[in-house]
Amino acid sequence: MTIASIGTGSMGGALLAGVLRGGADPESVIATTGSRASADGLRERLGVRTASVEEDTEANRTAVADAEFVLLGVKPWAMKDTLAEIAGSLRPDAVLVSMAAGVSIAQLTEWSGSSRIIRIMPNTPSAVGHGVIALAATADVPQESVAEVAGLLAGAGDVVEMTEDELQTMIGLSGSGVAYFFLLAEKLVEAGVAQGMGEEMARRIVVGTAAGAGRLLEETPDPAGLRTAVTSKGGTTHAAMTSFEGDDFGAIVERAARAASARAREMESGG
Ligand SMILES: NC(=O)c1ccc[n+]([C@@H]2O[C@H](COP(=O)([O-])OP(=O)(O)OC[C@H]3O[C@@H](n4cnc5c(N)ncnc54)[C@H](OP(=O)(O)O)[C@@H]3O)[C@@H](O)[C@H]2O)c1
Repeated sequence: MTIASIGTGSMGGALLAGVLRGGADPESVIATTGSRASADGLRERLGVRTASVEEDTEANRTAVADAEFVLLGVKPWAMKDTLAEIAGSLRPDAVLVSMAAGVSIAQLTEWSGSSRIIRIMPNTPSAVGHGVIALAATADVPQESVAEVAGLLAGAGDVVEMTEDELQTMIGLSGSGVAYFFLLAEKLVEAGVAQGMGEEMARRIVVGTAAGAGRLLEETPDPAGLRTAVTSKGGTTHAAMTSFEGDDFGAIVERAARAASARAREMESGG
């Protein structure tokens, strides 16, 4: 299997690291960047073949010429030009895998002239192998290629196949959703400090709580059940839950998730 990673920065590099963790042969991968410095850093870090457009204006075209899978990690605004650049050099059976936010499958198809498109949406924990990666494929991508791409990305996190519309909903739950967990952690640290606890201690306690809650959720994927298990009537957690309910926490969260997904859809229609 041959993989070209076109534009390999923060997210492209994180996913590529996951692909290698999942067992792909570094020799089968060629990764391109804008600058030579980025290419050198990547080669040192991941052990893959690299090329930069700074050193070789043909780098992207050369990289895709042999590739079965082309991972597209350039910035969204650079996608149209990048696809125009590589379109003529793609193998006819190449599968394009775009991670660009706000770039639809329809746009990717139009700009590349190919209908073998997989659109993915990773979240930032992909960088540490604990991401959630939404994956939406066109009907022209053979099912075995979808499975291969899902298998390759599994080293970066949990790959969940869905429709493109569900991918927009996923952005509000997971892509942006990681930040909601960070916000809760941030506010809990502030609540500790407001009650006189040192910030370092509050942060340590909150980070440990978040990590522990995540582990428990992975073992028992039933958030309501786990919550109920620590909530005895008249107890401390019950007092906190009553306060959350009084402030209509559920509605606050749903509004935020809908706002993120609505923004994702709006960005895609040029807003
Ligand atoms: N970061 C996230 O949390 C996140 C989450 C979901 C989706 N995404 C998507 O991931 C994509 C990349 O975002 P990012 O945050 O990883 O950006 P980034 O770190 O800036 O990465 C962009 C990469 O493209 C390279 N590049 C620039 N011009 C190029 C060219 N002409 N040919 C080939 N490579 C070129 C850059 O090289 P240099 O380093 O040399 O400039 C860099 O390696 C975006 O489409 C974004 O929507 C990101």
